[in-house]
Formats: sequence, C-alpha cells, structure tokens
Amino acid sequence: MKKIQRSLTLPPREASPWIHADAKQPPDPIRHRSTEEEARTHMANVQAFIDKELTRFQAELFDFLRIPSVSARSEHTPDIHDAATWVGDRLREAGLEASVLETSGHPVVLGEWRKAGPEAPTLLIYGHYDVQPPEPLDEWHSPAFEPTVREGNLFARGASDDKGQLFLHIKALEAQLKGGGGLPVNVVVLAEGEEEIGSPSLVPFVKAHKDRLACDAVVISDSSMFDQGLPSLLFSLRGLAYFEIHVRGPSGDLHSGTYGGAVVNPGNVLAQIVASLKDSHGRIAIPGFYDDVLEWDLETREALQALPFDIEEFKGEVGAPGLNGERGYNLLERIWIRPTCDVNGLLCGYTGEGAKTVLPARAMAKVSFRLVPNQTPERVKELLEVHVANVAPSEVNVRIEELHGGRPWKAELSGAFFEAAQRALEKAFGVPPVLTGEGGSIPIVVDFQEILDAPVLLMGFAPPGANMHAPNEWIPLVNFEKGIRAMAEFYGELGG
Ligand code: BES
Ligand code: MN
Ligand code: MN
Repeated sequence: MKKIQRSLTLPPREASPWIHADAKQPPDPIRHRSTEEEARTHMANVQAFIDKELTRFQAELFDFLRIPSVSARSEHTPDIHDAATWVGDRLREAGLEASVLETSGHPVVLGEWRKAGPEAPTLLIYGHYDVQPPEPLDEWHSPAFEPTVREGNLFARGASDDKGQLFLHIKALEAQLKGGGGLPVNVVVLAEGEEEIGSPSLVPFVKAHKDRLACDAVVISDSSMFDQGLPSLLFSLRGLAYFEIHVRGPSGDLHSGTYGGAVVNPGNVLAQIVASLKDSHGRIAIPGFYDDVLEWDLETREALQALPFDIEEFKGEVGAPGLNGERGYNLLERIWIRPTCDVNGLLCGYTGEGAKTVLPARAMAKVSFRLVPNQTPERVKELLEVHVANVAPSEVNVRIEELHGGRPWKAELSGAFFEAAQRALEKAFGVPPVLTGEGGSIPIVVDFQEILDAPVLLMGFAPPGANMHAPNEWIPLVNFEKGIRAMAEFYGELGG
C-alpha cells in the first residue's frame, strides 16, 4: 500500500495575503441565530449526533461503495440505477425530500430542504455517484467493490472519487436536521451519474431545471487536500479537451517487406504528429495555443511557493526516474496553472508476442489537453485541426474526433460563503485551510456558475495520492469523519 504523508509544516499565515484578498465584500446574505448561546447548543447537539452515529455512517458508506456504478459500461446500467435509488433513500432518511429524475442518460438525484424559508439563502451541493471502471483488477489488494479498511484507511473504487465525498455531505445534512433540528439555509443536493463520462446530460438538465436549482452558492467536494490533515479550498481547476486522432493509410494491413518504402506508414505518421505537439522546452507547439492562456498574477505564484510542498514525496508518489515540464515554471505551476498535452493511449499495428512484419493500415492516439483560463475546448480543437493538417502528409487520411471537453475555472476568493468555509474547515481540522489549484477537471463547475449565476466553492477531502481512477483508491476514515464535521460547522457558521 502506498501511503502518502506530506510534511505538516504550515506556511506562516501572513505569507498568503492572498487568502484574505481585500476584494469588495458582497452584502452578507446570511441570517443570524438569535443568540450565541443558542448557536453553541445547536452545534453541540449536531456534533453529539455525529459522535453517536458515526459507526452507522461508515457502514452506510460501505454499502454505497459496494454498488459497482461504473458509468462508462452499459452492463452496469442497473447498478447506476441502484446507486441513484440508494442516494435518494439516504437523502430521505436524512430529512430531505428526494427525487430520482430520468435524463437522456443516467438519472440525476435531487434532494431538497427548503424550510429555512424564502428569505434565507439557498445552497446547492453537487457530487457524483458514478465511478471509473476498476481495471486492472489484479492490482487491487482487496476487491474494488468490497470496501476494506486497512490501518484506518478505507479502500474501494469511489472511496474518494466521489462517493465518499458526496456521502459526507448527506451525513452532515442529516446531523444538522436530525441532531440539530434544522438548517439556517435552504439546501438542494444534486447527485449525478455521468461525471466520469463527461456529464453529457447535465448541462441540459441544469438549464431545464434552472428555477428549481436556483441558489446563492454551489458547494462541491470532489478534489483532494494538499496534505493529510491540511484542509484545502481550490482557487482553480483546469479544463479539458480530449481527442482521438485517427490516421488511415492503405485499405488493409500490408507485408512490411513487400510494400514498406513505397507506402506511407500510418504508425510513423501518427508518431510524427504526436511528436509535433510539443517542443523540447515542454511547450505545446501548436501555433496560437498560448494566445488565450492567462498569465497568473505574481501574488498567486508567490502563494504557491509558500505551500508546504515536498518534491521528494511527489517523486516517490510518481515513481518515475525523473520529472520535467514546461521551462520557466515550477512543479505546482506546471500541474495547476499551465496547460498540458498528453498522450493517454496509442493503438497501432502488431503488439503481441514476437515479431510480425506488418505495415499497419491504421493508427490511433488518444490525446488530452488540460486547459487553463481563458482557453476553451472549442478553440483548442480548431487550432489542433489546422496544425495536424499541416503536419500530416497527403498520402494518409487523418480524422480528429472530440471525446469530451470542459472549461477551466478560477475561484472567487471572497464572500460570506467562502469565509464561512474557511472558518468551518479550521474548526474541524484545527488548522486554517490553504488555497490550492487542481490539475484535474470538473467540467460542470463553470456551467453552474454561468447558468445559476452563483459562485462555486470547492473543498476537497480526498487525501493526496488517493489513487482516483487507479487501483487501490482510498480515503482515510478520519477524512470522511472530519469532512462531515467540517460541513456541519459550515452550516453552523452560516447560521451563527
Ligand atoms: N474528481 C475528479 C476531478 C479531480 C481529480 C479533482 C483529481 C481533484 C483531483 C473528476 O471525477 C474527474 O475524474 N474528472 C475528469 C474529467 C471528466 C470529464 C472525465 C478528469 O479530470 O479527468
Ligand atoms: Mn470526481
Ligand atoms: Mn473522477
């Protein structure tokens, strides 16, 4: 088992003035509880409820993780429906009204509690109940869909991404509603089943239910903490533009001796195309690619420097002989605030045992670009198409197919909800949160912001090195617990 433990030294608070940007504060939308005493009693009751019910909460999470709700595989469609129904049932038990709504793809589960009244603000909690395929199965130390605890860490597909994090929100709501008797804000929970396949049905769903989903802020836990024990709020997410590049040559595979030399080989051409995407300084060599790339301000870059980052631990996590990336940027910048281009898969010719002399008829590469503000997947597609057409010889056909895309996101680092989240995380973890970037993508974030006109808060409870999408995905049980407590405190802060 790979256990990552980054150092716990914190940067001095004043090293990140950035955390308390003196941006204009919007009017405080939050209703206040009548007395401090009342607020204290309320939170004590909520925390006592969590103490008492934690074992049950964990057992329920295990049940959730046993459902193999793999969105990418049609044979798991019944499991997707079981997971949706299961989430709806738990929302109802927590004291919300729940509905499982069909879409053209997998169902969306909505939970609603609106008893704070029309004057109170409304929060939207988003998460996903679908998971990535578990393969390769033989690399799991315990089966992917049999949740297993080793040394206080819970192993299962979805433990961190995102069932564990979605479920902790439901349990925090239950603790507030059942243990505390109510919430100071209205809450809508939206759990989708297609995040891992690019959320194809969610934008139309959000548009169609715009009024029902109207809210003052969106809260999402589908990311990691910078270090174990160190709570983290995201300042950015990268976007994604994912393509298949297909190269087609002769009408069928050919003898590489009889025809090689006279027929252009699609495998060689694909290698040329792939090699042309980046230069030797780690920069993407597609003309125009950097035109829309935001150069981050010095403040942000300095704040990244102040994070307690241990490069040796990162190297250990990766296990490669060395690391490299875009010249002029340090490691955290390379993975958070700079765009990338990566081959995710290559398919061509004979790859079985021994040597088969063959000139393959076709070749295919899966290539992804992680995007940063203000890039768009649409523009990147246009630029890639022009570039590939220039590089590829006319003796082959090249076709580019777009698989999925998502826009990058940059957070609003102020406002009553953001500050309540900072205080709540500090209460639950005993240290103030740091601001971190994230190299991964959650495409719906920007759509929520635009369609619902509400700021999005991302607070992650996955450990660094959670093995999301990989074998032996895990979450420390203490993160699940502290995540529940932090969210319970968040509601407390909104009411206090
Ligand atoms: N939860 C992840 C995104 C993520 C990964 C956040 C790691 C923080 C740390 C999300 O479920 C995911 O996997 N997103 C995909 C994009 C999607 C379109 C398939 C990704 O980033 O590859
Ligand atoms: Mn996720
Ligand atoms: Mn994921």
